[in-house]
Amino acid sequence: MARQQMISLAIISYLAMAWGYAGVKPTEPFNYSIEVDPNGDFLLFWKFNDTHITFEVHVKTYGYVGFGLSENGNMYPADVVVGWVKDGVTHFKDCHTTAHASPVVDIHQDWFLLHGEENDFGTVLKFVRKLDTCDKNEDEKIQDGTIRMIYSYHPNDPVTDDSLIYHGPDHRGTKSLSLLSMSSAASVTWSTDNHDVRLYDFLNENVRLLYVVLYIRVTEQLVYLYVFTIFM
Ligand SMILES: *[C@@H]1O[C@H](CO)[C@@H](O)[C@H](O)[C@H]1NC(C)=O
Ligand SMILES: *[C@@H]1O[C@H](CO)[C@@H](O)[C@H](O)[C@H]1NC(C)=O
Repeated sequence: MARQQMISLAIISYLAMAWGYAGVKPTEPFNYSIEVDPNGDFLLFWKFNDTHITFEVHVKTYGYVGFGLSENGNMYPADVVVGWVKDGVTHFKDCHTTAHASPVVDIHQDWFLLHGEENDFGTVLKFVRKLDTCDKNEDEKIQDGTIRMIYSYHPNDPVTDDSLIYHGPDHRGTKSLSLLSMSSAASVTWSTDNHDVRLYDFLNENVRLLYVVLYIRVTEQLVYLYVFTIFM
């Protein structure tokens, strides 16, 4: 049988193509970050220790921002914060949703605003809460494993504190995330089906990273694998 001298050349995959979010710099280094929506208009940074988790969102809007955690991925019941900056003042509330309607302000405020501002990109909100607030009725306990994150934003600020304008279908979504167990290795994974990206410390420095794998099969036994890593 003739020896198969097959050379096949294929670019198997774009393993990862992720870049520092243009124009967005977190207010301090965060261990984890993710592009929450497909357009890159909602960026989430977070870090945690044994007791607390700190989030920072950068959202392309000068209106209000909603962010929350939901056991079932639906808009209710969910533990949410709603925030916006108006005339240089940051408004921020710990709420929960009980129906497909505006969130209700929690009796116990367990999420605390650390920072709020509007910049060239949009709105920045930084906030912290305990992993376990012990508020069983109104807050979602954050623990190991996948949690559903829900997000929304609106181009306008609410007219009054109590009237959040219903956000259109383009400006909200949900995403599954393991907040406490994402690997913090210096690697990037990209899965094209749901645009889940794991981005690490070095991406906070606005680094562009491009991974290209070139796969050359020389014989049945011999395969050359080339991995190009390009920092831009
Ligand atoms: C998170 O980042 C800080 C500094 O930015 C670093 O000291 C710490 O080790 C990091 N933690 C993890 C889990 O990667
Ligand atoms: C954990 O993080 C919170 C919020 O940043 C902070 O107040 C607390 O001191 C930290 N705990 C430890 C043990 O570092």
